[in-house]
Amino acid sequence: MEDRFYDPEYISKLFDRMGPTYDVINLVSSFGFSEFWRYQCVSHLPIHPGAVVCDMMAGSGECWPHIARRTGASGHLLSVDFCNTMVERQNKRNSKVDAKITVLHQNALCTSIPSESVDFVVAAFGLKTLGTNDLSKFAVEICRVLKPGGMFSLIEISVPQSAMLNFAYMLYIRRVIPLVGRLFLGDIAAYRMLGDYTLSFGSCERVKATFELPQFNIELRRHFFGCTTALVGKKTQESCSI
Ligand SMILES: C[S@@+](CC[C@H](N)C(=O)[O-])C[C@H]1O[C@@H](n2cnc3c(N)ncnc32)[C@H](O)[C@@H]1O
Repeated sequence: MEDRFYDPEYISKLFDRMGPTYDVINLVSSFGFSEFWRYQCVSHLPIHPGAVVCDMMAGSGECWPHIARRTGASGHLLSVDFCNTMVERQNKRNSKVDAKITVLHQNALCTSIPSESVDFVVAAFGLKTLGTNDLSKFAVEICRVLKPGGMFSLIEISVPQSAMLNFAYMLYIRRVIPLVGRLFLGDIAAYRMLGDYTLSFGSCERVKATFELPQFNIELRRHFFGCTTALVGKKTQESCSI
């Protein structure tokens, strides 16, 4: 994909267009799977009551219920997104939930979160819109904010390895999801772009090496025959001055 498609302003505006309906379309078009995959993404981590958890590229807060259920009232959730519409929706959601949540309207690649202050980092379905350099910056930012011993879980829709499944899945992503997008939003192009990002991203297997910092032990997990993949890692050393 062209570099301009990874420009933060372009991506932020794209999600501004999808923001009002993103969660509903995501749920309907994935037949509920997206919600299950968020649950799995969070379940990869031993999040305990009182934990400090950062939800990077949080959208309108789709992962919050899964995280808050584990941290309880004594935990603290830091929710990062740079899209205006998504942050507005987070603020609305925040006033209705009984959990300590701080919404940060920031770029996930360079947040104001203090170094080594977070127990767990979660990112669901945000990796695909990061270009190669941005993925490296994201790995460093996760390393910076995590406490030693802290863990992260990143999940993303992926291109399955099996040729038959690949064909059906890509048809679904490129044709069915944009149609659902048009029905709910009247904007087929925005949802078609998501398919293009997914194609370009490939899978977490492709980007695993980027997250293999000396401070991290990481492993790749595949879900539903590789239709989503996840990177789960632990920060084992203290310094992240890379
Ligand atoms: C596909 S949505 C995923 C939302 C949510 N995590 C979920 O589970 O559905 C991707 C979100 O990442 C945000 N995003 C993408 N790149 C970002 C960046 N560099 N910094 C902050 N937010 C970013 C977008 O604004 C969008 O809300």
